[in-house]
Amino acid sequence: MPLDMIIGAQWGDEGKGRVTDLLAAQADIVARYSGGDNAGHTVTVKGEIFKLHLIPSGIIHPNVTCLIGNGVVLNPAVLLREMASLAERGIDVGPDRLKISRNTHLITPAHIALDKAKETRRGSEAIGTTLRGIGPAYTDKTERTGLRAELFANPEELADQIQAHITAKNEVLTKIYGAEPLDADVVAAEYAQFAQHLRDHLVYGSVYLHEALQNGRSVLAEGAQGTFLDLDHGTYPFVTSSAPTSGGVLVGLGVGPRMIGRIIGIAKAFTSRVGGGPFPSELDGEMAHRLRGTGDKPWDEYGTTTGRPRRVGWLDLVMLRHAVRINGLTELVITKLDILSGLDEIQVCNAYRLDGETIDFYPSDIPSLSRCQPVYNTLPGWQEDIMATRQLADLPQNAQNYIQFITDETGVPVTAVSVGPGRSQVIHL
Ligand code: GDP
Ligand code: IMO
Ligand code: MG
Repeated sequence: MPLDMIIGAQWGDEGKGRVTDLLAAQADIVARYSGGDNAGHTVTVKGEIFKLHLIPSGIIHPNVTCLIGNGVVLNPAVLLREMASLAERGIDVGPDRLKISRNTHLITPAHIALDKAKETRRGSEAIGTTLRGIGPAYTDKTERTGLRAELFANPEELADQIQAHITAKNEVLTKIYGAEPLDADVVAAEYAQFAQHLRDHLVYGSVYLHEALQNGRSVLAEGAQGTFLDLDHGTYPFVTSSAPTSGGVLVGLGVGPRMIGRIIGIAKAFTSRVGGGPFPSELDGEMAHRLRGTGDKPWDEYGTTTGRPRRVGWLDLVMLRHAVRINGLTELVITKLDILSGLDEIQVCNAYRLDGETIDFYPSDIPSLSRCQPVYNTLPGWQEDIMATRQLADLPQNAQNYIQFITDETGVPVTAVSVGPGRSQVIHL
């Protein structure tokens, strides 16, 4: 006991990997529960940068065991590449350290081809997906035609199911989308290879976690994506196809709610978004360039998975209050406070104007959300570089006030503030 959760409170890329790495020092198991390799989590240790897409960020701590939970959609080709690249850097990714729930669904080349075909067909209405096959893989799961990792333990059945899957998808690809068909034999041969490499990693995930929790081991659930990319609670249809929220942890790992300890929301000191969809506090021009950076620093706002420039805007407290409600957040961790240093004034969106009325909640429908105009509080900024600061009292008074304002307006405490990507660049409150 217990199960603590790291949840993205915005549109992803809040610094979940960085915070997971921080908290993993005290955890026995770190588990991913949703999404797939659409995620890109960056961890910086002593200047060395790790970019993880599927393997939980806990892997960098030698005493942590990692689990890819049943709620994830797993591209085995990407996983094996990521394992190889970590192994080259001296990190053990053997079956004792990295486990895969048997009921995790697999991504195939057909899912990726369909993701591309569907996005192309959407034209100007495109979601802006990461083209990793995420939506089509979850569609198969809900349609009850998906392939699961447990097939790695049964080569003949795997070969049959891959053949049937590729044949069925080829019909859709060629007849509906006019796309090229895939070679089922080639894919089946590839997946037979993947099975050989991965079958020793299979576990009954829920049983494994339950036993660990019963034996007093602590589990950290590492969120991917963020609350506003949640299939139900995000900016539908500009969302991902899973539940990155706290409810998704229970389903995506197979654990009960009585195990839950802390529910930690991660939010950037401003807001970013990759892909399409409404963004009430979005900025353009000079200030957007200032917050995004030019791409010369590793933490500038360019996607870890796709390299796309991220859209940026001021912190939106209407969103954070929504995230507190949806997830039952016990606390917030604020990242990238250092990026706000040097600004004379900082704006914080604290309400919206919608059709002549002021509202303080997040409307769920896109037409309303698109008409929302941000209502800002203007707070005084600070000039000092804070990347070397380690104590709250040493932060400039206006930076302390900024954090206090977030606590006051969201109703949950900020328990840590990150002032740089490195492991030590944190202020515990
Ligand atoms: P995730 O998807 O939520 O794990 O976040 P990403 O890794 O995609 O994006 C966060 C980026 O910000 C990464 O490049 C991190 O190294 C970086 N980062 C995290 N916290 C801080 C911070 O406090 N300050 C700065 N400057 N960079 C940070
Ligand atoms: P991490 O874990 C930011 C976005 C995509 C797109 C939408 C749907 O690094 O925070 P998908 O490929 O999931 O079907 O795309 O979701 N998206 C992310 N944005 N961070 C992520 O992950 C994301 N994962 C998906 O840009 O708008
Ligand atoms: Mg990311």
